[in-house]
Amino acid sequence: MNTRMIAVTQEERERILQEAGSIIRNGGLVAFPTETVYGLGGDALNPHSSRKIYEAKGRPSDNPLIIHISRMEDLYAVAEHVSEEARMLAERFWPGPLTLVLPKADIVPPETTGGLDTVAVRMPSNELARDFIRYSGGFVAAPSANLSGRPSPTLARYVAEDMDGRIDMILDGGEGDIGLESTIVDVTASPPQILRPGFITEAMLEQVLGRVETDRALLSPGMEQAPRAPGMKYRHYAPKGDLVIVEGEQDAVAAYINARIREDMAGGERTGVICTDATRELYGGNAVKSVGSREREEEIGRRLYRILRELDNEGVTKIYSEAFSGEGLGEAIMNRLLKAAGYKIVKTDREEKG
Ligand code: TXA
Ligand code: MG
Repeated sequence: MNTRMIAVTQEERERILQEAGSIIRNGGLVAFPTETVYGLGGDALNPHSSRKIYEAKGRPSDNPLIIHISRMEDLYAVAEHVSEEARMLAERFWPGPLTLVLPKADIVPPETTGGLDTVAVRMPSNELARDFIRYSGGFVAAPSANLSGRPSPTLARYVAEDMDGRIDMILDGGEGDIGLESTIVDVTASPPQILRPGFITEAMLEQVLGRVETDRALLSPGMEQAPRAPGMKYRHYAPKGDLVIVEGEQDAVAAYINARIREDMAGGERTGVICTDATRELYGGNAVKSVGSREREEEIGRRLYRILRELDNEGVTKIYSEAFSGEGLGEAIMNRLLKAAGYKIVKTDREEKG
């Protein structure tokens, strides 16, 4: 299949949207930008389209898709029942990076929900995304537009790296503001449960609902309990290189990482470090990447996946990352980083004491 990459200009916008929408309505696949990451879109109400999405991603078909909508009333078409709590969250945070899990309505085929009787729905704030959804008939199923197991794409050219030849079209709308996938909240649980942390934090949700809980399986990497969002159990977001997170006091972390880098390079590996502007001078190795300032978490979130892709593209085989604060938006950042590392984390302080 020939995949067309199209930069969406103001003059051509209308014509491009019409064409992209007709591809979706005819059962094809189009990748599109959102404020979080690029999505790989197909008609959510067409079971053939959902099957094609799984195939293009190389993704297990028990991993359900998120339905993207452009108007509030469309929530009521795909959800069998919209609770008061769900309505309050949608009104407060939509359009935006929040996905709600609700009871599924009959018009949604089981192929789209991985056979579950619940459905995940979100209304993105990216305007191009919403217009694209409208031209596509209103219901676009879209996982992140990466091959299964690869970091989610934050740029159209990263979509092309993974999807060239597998889908009909890629709409290039530049880089999203957030860079991490949406927060997922299961509003069928009481109290509502966060299944995937994101830009909309637990504190923000609690301002609307009072009490909200986080899926315990996300907090304990041992995973004696399966996470409730099926996708969270797969090793996701992973770079090709082997990633280890190193936690502890700044100098001990730098000393540990530099020692490992020397060993790795002697063994013929290409090494990379993920650090901050304040610490980048401390490191050696082949590639040193800063996420920016430790205090500016929004910037860290925006840059993280891009850095993982860059390290891959530079052929780095051993990656070391500093740890970041796990509070607020930092919870989503550390969740993705830990998953990318397969939960490999070294605590330098404890090693010294022990
Ligand atoms: O920001 C985002 O949410 C991006 C953009 C493209 O909108 N999409 C995205 O989709 O991250 P995906 O497919 O990569 O991740 C969807 C997650 C998976 O972990 C999946 O298991 C979970 O949502 N999910 C979907 N439907 C669910 C359901 N009914 N119950 C529980 N988890 C569900
Ligand atoms: Mg994904």
